[in-house]
Amino acid sequence: MHACFTVGCVRRGCHWRKRRGSELKAGPRPTILVKQTDLMNEFTLPQASAWIKVSGELIAANAARLTELDTAIGDGDHGTNMVRGFAAVQKKLAGQRAGDIAALFKQVGMTLLSSVGGASGPLYGGFFLELGKQAAGKETLRQSDVIQMFEGGLRDVQRRGKAEPGDKTMVDSLAPAVAAMRDESNRDLSSTLKRASEAARVGVESTIPLQARKGRASYLGERSIGHQDPGATSCLLLLQALASVCQAA
Ligand SMILES: Nc1ncnc2c1ncn2[C@@H]1O[C@H](COP(=O)(O)OP(=O)(O)OP(=O)(O)O)[C@@H](O)[C@H]1O
Ligand SMILES: [Mg+2]
Repeated sequence: MHACFTVGCVRRGCHWRKRRGSELKAGPRPTILVKQTDLMNEFTLPQASAWIKVSGELIAANAARLTELDTAIGDGDHGTNMVRGFAAVQKKLAGQRAGDIAALFKQVGMTLLSSVGGASGPLYGGFFLELGKQAAGKETLRQSDVIQMFEGGLRDVQRRGKAEPGDKTMVDSLAPAVAAMRDESNRDLSSTLKRASEAARVGVESTIPLQARKGRASYLGERSIGHQDPGATSCLLLLQALASVCQAA
């Protein structure tokens, strides 16, 4: 087999030749699509709320897939962990209305920290807490603020988990997404986020041939090779949800 990381590569015998992508379900049609017209490059509180809601819907629709992936290289709880976390978030948010984006993400982060558990709970919890910190004091976020916010979120995940790209973790979808946000920042926000979600999908595919160096999957050594990372996959779902709620009208 030639050394290649190109999904859909046409070379005969290539490991990637017949890959069909990460086979995720679309979930229910997003119930809230916040139309962007004149506010094309701004990220607002309704969009942030819609992102969290649609993320929960996508996680629920793909829970079995996340669990299947975690059964192959972990302990089979990633789907249930994430569903439990996002259900707790929905319950929390239904009871109170956040005043701004920072307060919303802080609530999400605290709730995920206390309800998800496992390795991913503190990582996703810390990620949203950091998004909240980055958004503090701003009523709406400009595109550059959104990128800065995600750069902060990625930094926090890496500070807590000490994973680098290539270690076969959620960083393998989050880091390329953040890099794409930076590289594609000359576009409108909707296109930038779509590119970020596409980069995350490629990142998810890239985890398949990797040997895990962090988390429970690393205990498997070489046996972790050939499986898609569950955390990278759930992170892709979050980024897909973000792109879908911010799509241009
Ligand atoms: N150090 C880390 N840095 C970044 N992501 C990590 C790290 N460790 C694990 N992960 C991510 O977490 C995912 C697994 O999450 P899950 O909810 O299944 O927790 P877990 O591994 O079962 O935790 P525990 O072993 O504590 O039960 C992995 O697929 C990986 O993407
Ligand atoms: Mg697990």
